[in-house]
Amino acid sequence: MSHLFALGDAADVCAALPSEVRFDLVYLDPPFGVGTTMTARAARGQARGRRRPESGPDAYDDRASADALVAMLAPRLEAIRDRMAEGATLYLHLDHRAVHDAKVACDRLFGRGAFLGEIIWAPGNGGRGARGFSVTHQTILLYARAASERGQVVYNAADPTLREPFAETSLAMHFKHRDDDGRLYRERVLGGKAYRYYADEGRRLGSVWTDIPGMVANTPLRREATGYPTQKPVRLLERIVRASSAPGATVADLMCGSGTTLVAAARLGRRFVGGDRSPLAFATARARLDREGVAYSLIEDIPAAQPS
Ligand SMILES: C[S@@+](CC[C@H](N)C(=O)[O-])C[C@H]1O[C@@H](n2cnc3c(N)ncnc32)[C@H](O)[C@@H]1O
Repeated sequence: MSHLFALGDAADVCAALPSEVRFDLVYLDPPFGVGTTMTARAARGQARGRRRPESGPDAYDDRASADALVAMLAPRLEAIRDRMAEGATLYLHLDHRAVHDAKVACDRLFGRGAFLGEIIWAPGNGGRGARGFSVTHQTILLYARAASERGQVVYNAADPTLREPFAETSLAMHFKHRDDDGRLYRERVLGGKAYRYYADEGRRLGSVWTDIPGMVANTPLRREATGYPTQKPVRLLERIVRASSAPGATVADLMCGSGTTLVAAARLGRRFVGGDRSPLAFATARARLDREGVAYSLIEDIPAAQPS
């Protein structure tokens, strides 16, 4: 199968795919329920993000309430779940506005036991909030296709990009031995079995990610920026793709915006199934894939998206 790409609603794209297509990994980054239309920067001097007088063209509608947003998502998540392969993982990226409602909806759909955890991503750019703590993080929920498949989901723990250094205090307190090659290690006995941990291998990456700035995807001075609003950094998607899929796997993003997931998947030797209902997203992602030299087949004959 080659890469597949479509202009259309996520539910319609799922329905239009050849029957044998199954997703090994899904990333979904829907509108967050910000309460405005989101606009793109298509030319110098234009502003992107929330609609204002100096904005460029409309990219997508983000006026839905949390309730309406989750009502829109539920049937699309169901269509996506029915396309997921055994052992596949779904990443659902939202923020404080709708993530808790979405968690309840996902628990209903996948089963509470299918919830694999969440990632707190701190993009590092301007926290908002007139009162109280400024909001400096977004949340990504992780689900298996079903509770019974928790044990089968792919997690590439040994990938060096999914490791982080041990804390200084831990190194000082626990890493007291050296092997014949001079490598510092500690040993722990768990359940009667001895495990050796090497200081230079670091520890498994935690669930709070502060090391991937959002800015790289959204500053016109950076090559990665397309001008599409709420574009995510490729590094974020590369980490997700590396963590939860094997080379050759099929990675789906059916609300792909500027195409960040598709670029990450192609660079890492995975196949993608991409789509978005916004004509501007479609054009932006296509131009981006062309710049990357990535060839793909278009899924045609999808009904024109209706306003949700
Ligand atoms: C937050 S943006 C995605 C940004 C993307 N992750 C990136 O890096 O550029 C959300 C996208 O979801 C799309 N969208 C919203 N509802 C959709 C639906 N029902 N089907 C397909 N796409 C949808 C919007 O058009 C928008 O491009």
